[in-house]
Amino acid sequence: MSLPTTRNVRALHEKYAPSDEMLTLVHQHSEIVARIALRLATRCPTPVNTTLVEIGALVHDIGVYRLGDAHYIRHGVLGHELLREEGLPESVCRFASRHTGVGLTRQDIRSQNLPLPPGDYVAETVEERLVMYADKFHSKSSPPAFLDATTYAAHVARFGPEKVTAFKSLTEEFGEPELAPLIAEYGHAVRPRPTK
Ligand SMILES: [Fe+2]
Repeated sequence: MSLPTTRNVRALHEKYAPSDEMLTLVHQHSEIVARIALRLATRCPTPVNTTLVEIGALVHDIGVYRLGDAHYIRHGVLGHELLREEGLPESVCRFASRHTGVGLTRQDIRSQNLPLPPGDYVAETVEERLVMYADKFHSKSSPPAFLDATTYAAHVARFGPEKVTAFKSLTEEFGEPELAPLIAEYGHAVRPRPTK
C-alpha cells in the first residue's frame, strides 16, 4: 500500500476539521512537528524513511477533530481509527496512536485510569520515535507555543521519573532541535519554564 502525499493529508485535514480555527491550529502544529522531525532526521545516525516521517507527522493529531467531549488522551486511538477507515496503511495509522507523551504503556493506562483500551501505545520504529519526540517541542495550546527540552522534561516529570528518563534517552538519540528559526517564522512564543 503506498503512502499518501502531503496534498492527500491536507485534504483529510480539510475533510475532518470541524472549524477553520481547528484546521489552522492542528494543521499548522502538524506542519511544525514535521519540520522539526525532518530536521532531526538529517543528523540521525540510523537510516530514516523521511517520507514516512513527514506523512506521519502530518497525520499524528488528526484524531483531535473527532474528540468531541471525549478525554483528550483518546485523540490517538481516534486518529488511528480515522486513518484506517480512510484506507491508509498501518505504518501511517500507527503515528496517531503512538505519539502521546513519551509512550503510553498498559501500566500507565491502569495506574492513571485512562479511558483507553488496554495495550501499549509506544513508538517503536525510528520514524515513530522521531515524530513522537518532535511533537514535544510545540504545543497546540491557545495561543500555540514552542517548548524547549528542559521545559518538556519538567512537564513530563509529573507522570513519573521513568518518563523523564525516557525523554532524556530520546534527547540523546536525536539531539535537541534548533527552534529559533521556527519561532521567528511562526511567531509563536516559547513557553516559559515553570518556576520552582
Ligand atoms: Fe501533536
